[in-house]
Amino acid sequence: MDDRGVRRVMRRPLVVGNWKMNGTRRSSIELAEMIAKNFSSSSVECAVCPPAIFLSDVASALVGSEVCLGAQAVSQFEQGAYTGEVSADMLADFSCAYVLVGHSERRACFGETSNQVAAKFVAAQSKGLTPILCVGETLAERRGDRALEVIAEQLGAVVDAAGLKALSSAVVAYEPVWAIGTGEVASPAQAQEILAFIRARLGENAKAVRLLYGGSVNAENAAQLFGQQDIDGALVGGASLQAEQFLTICRLAEA
Ligand code: 13P
Repeated sequence: MDDRGVRRVMRRPLVVGNWKMNGTRRSSIELAEMIAKNFSSSSVECAVCPPAIFLSDVASALVGSEVCLGAQAVSQFEQGAYTGEVSADMLADFSCAYVLVGHSERRACFGETSNQVAAKFVAAQSKGLTPILCVGETLAERRGDRALEVIAEQLGAVVDAAGLKALSSAVVAYEPVWAIGTGEVASPAQAQEILAFIRARLGENAKAVRLLYGGSVNAENAAQLFGQQDIDGALVGGASLQAEQFLTICRLAEA
């Protein structure tokens, strides 16, 4: 088996659709049904993260399919007087396998700090969910040559709280803020550079950790990204709202 083959055995490619705050109950069910009906792969894993209020409907639509369910956010608290929050237990109860933590929109729009993100990571893992830890720099930080520093800080907060070993059973997604929803995808080389940096920081167990790229991924640019050594899949926003395009991206991850 060549190097690429070994890599694929150790790290099954993963394509995750983050639907963000889009769609209706009906359109979410239809999208989930389309993906469930048409996704089948022996080598690639696929997950969708609908808005929390549609988790139950989407879970039902995915029954009997190979598509996993994920959530977009989780509370760091176990239970109690936290109005509006959804706990890791509740997500597990709805058969979520994955949950995003640290998405840049949560950091920027809702003021989530790296320490809160770390607490959410720990809360998710404690209930058997696999966190997809999102990290990434803003355009100003990249222009100021601070991308690696920012990512090291975001990653470091989680390593400090959860321990390096905990990262080995998680997924890390590099999503440069400047590439999210802008149509300006990072070049394969830019994404590879950051993901190699992340893998190096994950230490001994890093070989088995799946690292994703996210930010304007679509059916046209996915293949080139997936060709990079340290890119094990994608976290897809806008393009995951169209079943055909999302399924194409999943197929490209097989190659
Ligand atoms: P877009 O694919 O729409 O750029 O969004 C990326 C993202 O934020 C996925 O979590």
